[in-house]
Amino acid sequence: MKPLAQGAEAKIYKENSTIIKERLAKAYRHPELDHSLRQFRTRREAKVLQKLEELRFPAPHLREFSDKRMSIVMDFIPGETLKEVLQQKENDFEHLAKEIGERIGQLHKADIIHSDLTTSNMIQRKESGEVTFIDFGLSFFSEKIEDKAVDLFLLDRALGTTHAEIYPAVFEEVLEGYQEEYADADNVLSRLQLVERRGRNKKK
Ligand SMILES: Nc1ncnc2c1ncn2[C@@H]1O[C@H](COP(=O)(O)OP(=O)(O)O)[C@@H](O)[C@H]1O
Ligand SMILES: [Mg+2]
Repeated sequence: MKPLAQGAEAKIYKENSTIIKERLAKAYRHPELDHSLRQFRTRREAKVLQKLEELRFPAPHLREFSDKRMSIVMDFIPGETLKEVLQQKENDFEHLAKEIGERIGQLHKADIIHSDLTTSNMIQRKESGEVTFIDFGLSFFSEKIEDKAVDLFLLDRALGTTHAEIYPAVFEEVLEGYQEEYADADNVLSRLQLVERRGRNKKK
């Protein structure tokens, strides 16, 4: 099987309509730490995918996982990453960005923090056009406003670098959708301003 993608974390293989995501050993990490980290992330990704399916949130269906082989088998989502879609000029980014924000609002409503919100971790489904989220290995459950604000902050940063030509409008649309979906959004957005100030001060 040839890998479909080789991320920082894992090797991704496609087999018919499934994706196999395997977390490989990292030579630079202490072997025991490396083992427990990969095991933790494999279990975490599987657990969050199960929870999302219960919530009927658009994410891949989990077929199986093994914390010995450090692998997850899930449905292949046909389509393009939002990174690709948003880099094509002819696309209506406002509509898509708003949908991204609504989906993040749903995650945060369920106290799920994604922790790696980039447009490479979102796929627009071919048939329905629906935005589907992937890559939940760093996700966790938290009620904290701070954790939700940091989640949005990382997306803000990622959009600024990956989609500079439609930034900041693209992030403003995300926040629009987020506020429509999530009743506690205003608290998170006030905290986001503090997080951004903190980020700026750190750079100096
Ligand atoms: N279920 C899936 N369906 C379609 N493509 C996928 C799926 N899972 C991963 N991919 C593709 O593989 C890439 C890397 O997978 P990801 O889970 O994000 O791993 P990493 O932790 O290495 O970023 C994604 O950006 C996407 O292009
Ligand atoms: Mg990824």
